Amino acid sequence: MSTTPFQVQVADVRADALDVMSLELRAIGGAQLPPFEPGAHLDLHLPNGLIRQYSLTNDWRERDRYVIGVARVPDSRGGSTFVHSSVRAGAQLTIRGPINNFALDPRAERFLFIAGGIGITPIMAMTRWCVANGKPWRLIYAARSRQRAAFYEELCALARDSAQFHFDDESGQVLDVAAAIAGLQDGERIYCCGPTPLMDAVKTLTEHLPPDTVHFEYFSVPDSDEPKESTAFKVRLERSGAAFEIPEGKSILEVLEENGIEHPFSCREGLCGTCLTNVLSGEPDHRDYVLTDAERASGKMMTICCSRSKSPQLVLDL
Ligand code: FES
Repeated sequence: MSTTPFQVQVADVRADALDVMSLELRAIGGAQLPPFEPGAHLDLHLPNGLIRQYSLTNDWRERDRYVIGVARVPDSRGGSTFVHSSVRAGAQLTIRGPINNFALDPRAERFLFIAGGIGITPIMAMTRWCVANGKPWRLIYAARSRQRAAFYEELCALARDSAQFHFDDESGQVLDVAAAIAGLQDGERIYCCGPTPLMDAVKTLTEHLPPDTVHFEYFSVPDSDEPKESTAFKVRLERSGAAFEIPEGKSILEVLEENGIEHPFSCREGLCGTCLTNVLSGEPDHRDYVLTDAERASGKMMTICCSRSKSPQLVLDL
């Protein structure tokens, strides 16, 4: 991963579906871009100061371009609205990455992909990998309507038999997730990305499966998440020797910033993994959406933008 932001040029802008546009990004001067794996995203540093994450949709073997899909979100906090209204071919944008918090496990025997709406974007890159590597896969893709289903034609051309589409307006109801995933096969690994109700339903229906069978990619904090208690704790930075009290209502990241310590961040909500930090001692209270269950259980790293501490003190590798 490239940790330093760099400039790319918008080589092409296409309307992919109703309210969905795709941007093709190329290196300035035509150089190769840093490699990526299916499931990876870019941080897009928008000229209006916002940093937003967008999944790479194209073939991971392509080194000359990145393709991202951006949906216009009605209650956008400024990211998607800005991209739709202001980004045109020829523009230069600053990106960081690629970063992969939703990595496809190549050892899995077969894959079930479940996508809702713009959640199809990381899964597009995954289906391309499966086709190229001869891996059995199936896709359940739900959208409000056929017109709003990004990459619909491309998916039909890629492997129509592997894709099951559901359009709310045509069926008169939202996807029945339980029925859709009823035929789960042995050895099938699930990757799910979409709106919170879809991901919550998949999570509930797959709770009995072994850990690391089901993987989720969150684009926003689930509405269903209740605000959690936030008590004070101490943080010591092993390398600098600095120590801070993290008060109730403030994150570790905010306290570090207040004290002039710069640390990479992007979403500040536990969604992107940019602020991940190694933990040397203490027990993190994980509140992110990027770590796997095994990573959480190990207690060896945490997102300092939102996660807190269960122990009175944490020692971080900073
Ligand atoms: S800044 Fe995105 S997870 Fe912390």
